[in-house]
Amino acid sequence: MSDPQVTPEQERHEQAVTDQVLASFEQSPSPRLRELMEALVRHSHAFVREVRLTEPEWAAGIAFLTRCGHITDDRRQEFILLSDVLGLSMQTVTVNEPGDPRATESTVFGPFFAEESPAIEPGGDAAQGASGQPCWVSGTVTDVDGTPVAGARIDVWEADDDGLYDVQHGDGRVTGRAHLRSDDHGRYAFWCVTPTPYPIPHDGPVGDLLAANGRGPMRASHLHFMVDAPGLHRLVTHIFVRGDEHQDSDAVFGVKDSLVVDFTEHAADETPPDGRPLDTTWTRAEFDIVLAPAAKEHTA
Ligand code: BEZ
Ligand code: FE
Repeated sequence: MSDPQVTPEQERHEQAVTDQVLASFEQSPSPRLRELMEALVRHSHAFVREVRLTEPEWAAGIAFLTRCGHITDDRRQEFILLSDVLGLSMQTVTVNEPGDPRATESTVFGPFFAEESPAIEPGGDAAQGASGQPCWVSGTVTDVDGTPVAGARIDVWEADDDGLYDVQHGDGRVTGRAHLRSDDHGRYAFWCVTPTPYPIPHDGPVGDLLAANGRGPMRASHLHFMVDAPGLHRLVTHIFVRGDEHQDSDAVFGVKDSLVVDFTEHAADETPPDGRPLDTTWTRAEFDIVLAPAAKEHTA
């Protein structure tokens, strides 16, 4: 509850602190850094004043950030996770969208991309032994005018049906990730496993924050894509499984309607597009990728 009893004199004292801090950045040699620091000071001071932050609350916030620091190492980045659950990662993605309504929308990168992944041929298997129901994904890569993009590099990665990425198994396995190229007509296709929901890491301070606010750690089922082609804007996105129970409560706010795709289920005796024999049910998803032009370099 904010305190309605802030006198005009108290207001002046508080504004004087903010003004003094703002003035300390006047000599910053970088105009951009100055802009960032001034906005950070204005908004953070406004937050403290709006909520009438108590000293124990300030100390609790510092203790929380300290815990985030202690749990962070080369493999675990609690600050990015914090940014994710506060929607700051998604807001940054949204602010930086290329802005062409014809282009495929972006979403969060997430922590589980790996530079090294197996190269697969068109129609190859990105599951690489990950457990789960086989899933055939196909589509095209075009530019915003509909011209096919040949040779685009398509990286895909996903969790297995235990809800774990390969790196989380901690045994050096490389599964659920691969890269391939679009063909001369801009087409691509690969096998993977049908995405299933999984929790973001929630055994640390960010998990405690979610629990304290009655929020869950689950991500809506998804498959990650990163698509690169010369002269075009790199696309980082996911496709989401239509009908997923976490569609409206994704822990990191990554779901966009345009990225929700039908994963149609097929019986084991239905022959898949590449004729591969299967003894289980399988799913199929179509995802056409449209890349925006690369942003023009501009100098400040
Ligand atoms: C993921 O999609 O893998 C992810 C994204 C944000 C935080 C944690 C996981
Ligand atoms: Fe993910």
